[in-house]
Order: sequence, then C-alpha cells, then structure tokens
Amino acid sequence: MSARDRVAWLRREIARHDYQYHVLNDPLIPDAEYDRLLRELEGLEAGHPELVTPDSPTQRIGGAPAEGFEEVVHAVPMLSLANAFSDEEVADFDRRARERIGHDATLTYLAEPKLDGLAVSLRYEDGVLIRAATRGDGGKGEDVTRNVRTIAAIPLRLMGEGWPPVLEIRGEVFMPRRGFEAFNRRARERGEKPFANPRNAAAGSLRQLDPRVTAQRPLAFQAYGLGEVAFAPSPSGRRLQRGSRLATPGARCPGLGRGKDLPDTQSGRMAWIKAWGLPVSPELATVDGVAGCLAYYRELGERRDGLDYDIDGVVYKLDDIAQQEQLGYVSRAPRWALAHKFPAQEELTRLLAVEFQVGRTGALTPVARLEPVFVGGVTVSNATLHNMDEVERKDVRIGDTVIVRRAGDVIPEVVRSAPERRPADAQPIRMPPQCPVCGSDIVRPEGESVARCSGGLWCSAQRREAIKHFAARRAMDIDGLGDKLVEQLVEQGLIRNPADLYQLTLEQLAGLERMAEKSAANLIQALEASKETTLERFLFALGIREVGEATARALAHSFGDLEPLMAADEPRLQRIPDVGPVVAAHVQAFFRQPHNREVIDQLRAAGIRWEPLALTAPVESPLAGKTFVLTGTLSRPRDAIKDQLLALGAKVAGSVSKKTDYVVAGADAGSKLAKAGELGIPLLDGAGLDALLVESQGGTHQGFRPDLRP
Ligand code: IVH
Repeated sequence: MSARDRVAWLRREIARHDYQYHVLNDPLIPDAEYDRLLRELEGLEAGHPELVTPDSPTQRIGGAPAEGFEEVVHAVPMLSLANAFSDEEVADFDRRARERIGHDATLTYLAEPKLDGLAVSLRYEDGVLIRAATRGDGGKGEDVTRNVRTIAAIPLRLMGEGWPPVLEIRGEVFMPRRGFEAFNRRARERGEKPFANPRNAAAGSLRQLDPRVTAQRPLAFQAYGLGEVAFAPSPSGRRLQRGSRLATPGARCPGLGRGKDLPDTQSGRMAWIKAWGLPVSPELATVDGVAGCLAYYRELGERRDGLDYDIDGVVYKLDDIAQQEQLGYVSRAPRWALAHKFPAQEELTRLLAVEFQVGRTGALTPVARLEPVFVGGVTVSNATLHNMDEVERKDVRIGDTVIVRRAGDVIPEVVRSAPERRPADAQPIRMPPQCPVCGSDIVRPEGESVARCSGGLWCSAQRREAIKHFAARRAMDIDGLGDKLVEQLVEQGLIRNPADLYQLTLEQLAGLERMAEKSAANLIQALEASKETTLERFLFALGIREVGEATARALAHSFGDLEPLMAADEPRLQRIPDVGPVVAAHVQAFFRQPHNREVIDQLRAAGIRWEPLALTAPVESPLAGKTFVLTGTLSRPRDAIKDQLLALGAKVAGSVSKKTDYVVAGADAGSKLAKAGELGIPLLDGAGLDALLVESQGGTHQGFRPDLRP
C-alpha cells in the first residue's frame, strides 16, 4: 500500500472510531489501539508533509495563540428559547400552538435535555468543518474555530457523502461532570482557581486564545439543530453569505438521502445529523401532547443527578417542520419550542451564623444557618460546610452572600461565597476552642482536617449520637427507638449510656412527650428482644472508631467471643485481614477505657447475650477486603445484599471514594453513579453483582445445564 493510501485508510479508520466512541458511545477498540493508529498517521505525515490536510485528525491543535477572536455574522440568527417554570405554562404553550395551527388534535413534540453549556454553530462546507462560532448576541458571535477543532467529539469532516454543500450544525459545547471534577482537582493541586461550575468551565475553556489550552480541557458537544443549509455550493467559497436559506422540506439532499428531501420532522433531521457523524443527545424522544411532555420532564428530572452532564431543564420542539414554519418566531425565540426549566440546584442567600455540630466520634461539623431559600425544590435554611479546611477554601464569612447547592438526595452544602457582595462587617468563621456542648477542649491533630471534642462520652452530644448508633437497625436493632426519642431521653437525664436503656421503666417511658402507654410497652418489649444478638452486631453497636460492620464481623469471627478480643494486643489484632495499625490502636484504646469496660459489664449484666462463634480457619474469599457502594433501586432489599457481601468479607461503604472497588447501581442511581464514573470505578448492575457473588462463593452461573436434561 502506498503512503498516500495508508494515510487515507488511517484517517477513515480514526474517523470511524471517533464516531463509535463519541456519537454511538460504543468503542470498538481499546484506547491504546486508537493511540497507535493516531501515532502511525503522525509518523507518516511527518515523513510526507505533502500529504497533510487540514481535516486530518493530527491537525486538531495547531498554530500560536491568537490576539483575540474575529467576529462572525451568523447567516441564520442563533435564537434563544422561551422559558416555562410550571406545568401550567407548558399547557399554555401547547394550547397556543394548537390555536395557531388551527387544529385540535394532539401535537407531537421532540423532547430533549436542555444542556447547560454554551451554544456554538459549526459550519461545514463540502463536508469539511471550516468555521465554528459562539452565539454571541445571536446575530454576531466570535470565531472559535481553532478551539472547537480540538474537541474530539466534533468531526473535522462529515461522515458519508452527499451532505448539503453548506451545512451549519448547532449545538451545545459542555464539560461533562467527570471531566469537570478531575479538572478542578488538578487546578486545586496546582494552587490555581477552580471553575465554579461545568458551564463556566466550558465557556472559559472555549474562549482561550491558545488552542493548546483548550485541547487540554475535557469538552464535549451535542448537536440540537441546524443553521444555514444550502444545496448549491457557496459562490464565494469560504465566505459567509447574508440572509437565511434554512432548509425547507422541498429542498433536496443527494447522497445520504439520495434523491430524497431533507426530513420533514425535527426528529428525522436529528437522525441525519447523527448519521453525518455528530453526537446528538441519547435522550431524544418524541412525545405526544402536554401529558407526554410532562411525563418526559419528570422522568428526566428524576435521572438528572445520574447524568454525566448538567442540564437545567428540558426543551420541547414541535416535531413537524411544516407546523414549525406555520408558527414562526416572536422577537428572538421560536414559537414552536419551549424550555421547561428544572428548579435551580444553586441559589444565592445570606449566611446568618455558623454553628458547630458534634458527631458520635466528637467530630465537629460547621453548619451554616441561612436565610431560608428555595433551592433544588425545597426550602433550605441549614447547609453543611463540611470542615474548617473547606470553610477556608471556599472563603466563607458570616454575613456573606453564599451559593447554596442542593442536588437530588445530597444534603445541602455551601459551595462558596460571593466575595464581591461581602459586607464590610463580615465576620470570619472561627473554630471554638471548647466544645459548644460540653466545654471540653477541641483538638485537631496536625495534618487532619477534622477537629474533635475531646470530651468522649462525657460530652452529651457524643453520648446522644453513640446511643442512636447503638440502637440503629444494623446494630442492636431496637425497634421504635428513633433519634427524637433518644434526644429526649438524654436531655431529660434518663439515660447517659447505652446500658441505661435497659434500666428504663414503663412509667418513665410513658411519661415522655408524645409517648402513649402502648408504644412505651412496645419499646420495653423491643429492648428485651434486642438482648438476643450476635457478637458482630454488638461490636458494631459499641461504636469503636473505625470499626464498621465489616471490621466488626472480622473481629467477631477471628476471636469468637468478647473476652479474648478485649485481651488482645495490637500485633494480634493486626493479624486480622484489613485491620491496620490505626484500627488496632482504636480497638485497644476503646477496651482500655475503664468507662467503656463498665458499660460493657452493665450491658451483659442486663442480659445481652450472643452465641460464641466456633473459630474456623478464615475462608479465602476473593471479595475479602473489597469495598462496595450500593446505589439506586436494586432488585433485592439492600440489607440482604449487604449481609451477603459482609459474609464474604467485603465492606459496604456509604459514599464513593478512591478506595471503592465496585459500585452496584440500580435504577435511578444518582450522584454516586456519576462519581464512580469520574473515578473510573467498575460498575455492576444487579445481574453483574449476582454473577460476582456466585463466582466468589465458588459456584458457577445458573443456566443451561445439559447434564440435567432427561
Ligand atoms: S434549541 C431555535 N435545544 O439554550 C432554538 N437549545 O435558551 C434554539 N440549549 O442558546 C435553541 N440545550 O445554548 C436548543 N436541546 C437544546 C438546548 C438548547 C441547551 C441552549 C442553547 C440556547 C439556549 C436558549
């Protein structure tokens, strides 16, 4: 094969894999193989400079930084969209559309996500990308061609052949969350200022004067419509023409639809755009009438947090192009399209005060008291500030206007302050030197971001949290002993530690607020029932630092009973898989405390008991020590899955981190799924998990077994 042929073949091959990867989300080859193709092409072009063309994939990045951006006049203006914030507004929109069209039948809409990025117009002439422009004021934008060429999802040459000689594709450039998080992490590591949100990151990245900088940014693109489409080649070659020649149903497009018209529906045109090699939303759907629109809105709204990109609503467009033309435009927006916005996930409000909450282990969490604000669909008046490192990083002061974020089921947080609105008397947030609850000293070990109250179980806040933990379902499982009740009991001085629970009398309980005789009796019964337990539940219930369910289980099985565990020294503890020096030290310290020993004695005296475990040689499970996170709606109860995993020596954590080995995601999985993607953690669905469980129990997959056939 000649160099020329090989170069042509490589370019076709690379373009094909770009399409598989960016448009179909279905890569056919590993990244390493793709890189080899690209390197081979680079090598050939270096040896044969005469073969280099501007649409070669090697030419995405080129040239020196520019002075500024040239102005581009849009041949067809780039419009905006009318907004709706309620179901009624959507119904009004549909009613007006039906009135104008003059028929009563149900209208069909193309529904799609409203991406939160920035609009660009891509101009292809004779199938080659010749210009990319931002929306600007809709009439004139900026020439960002050199930057847009670095976005791998945007083809430099259209696929197939026979596209209209002049073809403008419009869509949104955005930064997927995964890339955004990674980018911000790196920025922080380098001491640079991170972007506030993916939208700003996309806009900032596209408006770089040096395309080499843009090339480093993880930008993506999805097309949502057409600009100028002309079926005769532009007479002036590469120059833009004024005046609109928007494709009409009568126009003919040879090639792809050889001899056929450009599709007469929005959805049909989107299919063509995809066939030409541009990414379109995988969420496109045609829906009927208001009911269809609203169902789509709710369904996508529920999945919003699980998507890998930010959306701020959905867009409905009349699917029939003839109907679109009938409706036309009003000022800067089409009458045939509507943006239905989701409730904002970020809002501005004022930080009134900061209080410090004491957790079970004494950890102090700064909690922001806010002027109530409607965000993410609810009114928020408290939000977490996580810890003092975060307070500093976010530069938050009392009196500041702050950005509050509430996304899905995640607890509301203060994202950052708006320092430009800072009042002169804004007060810095200071960690109190003493615990706000018990007055003990606050300690913050060097290099740690968490500060703790040193009061231990002397501190009523820690006591309260310790008792809540003790009673929890996966610990001692005391039915009917909820958080509110524990708070009341501690406040009234009826209990000071878990052992006191078992001394409570019917009279004491019945005397509490909102406590009927019947529920008091039930609680006494539940306390009685909880006495029959297992060693691992008991160990977990004690709330020893760093001893979660998996570690409690490992300890129980390794020692069989409580006495040998309490007598164990650190080297003995560290022989247990997954118990390192830190856990071993915490376990030892816990059992050395006279107070803890007393409580344990009292609990046993009250009748808490378990079957000692026969010591067996530890089973070698391939899942031992592996950390799982469960998210979304799974086909079996979560507790059952958790028990199975724990039994195999695995751990189940509540949040995704670098230490997570697997994320098991069910339906409607949210931000944890996105985080897993961002960290590249293997994902399992229900079936994948079951296969893994069967495998690690030494079994084989259920299925066709020929030997069992008659
Ligand atoms: S259509 C003629 N579709 O929203 C209609 N716009 O508020 C023009 N946007 O400037 C826009 N997702 O940046 C359309 N699926 C979508 C969109 C979308 C995001 C942005 C776009 C536009 C703005 C208008």
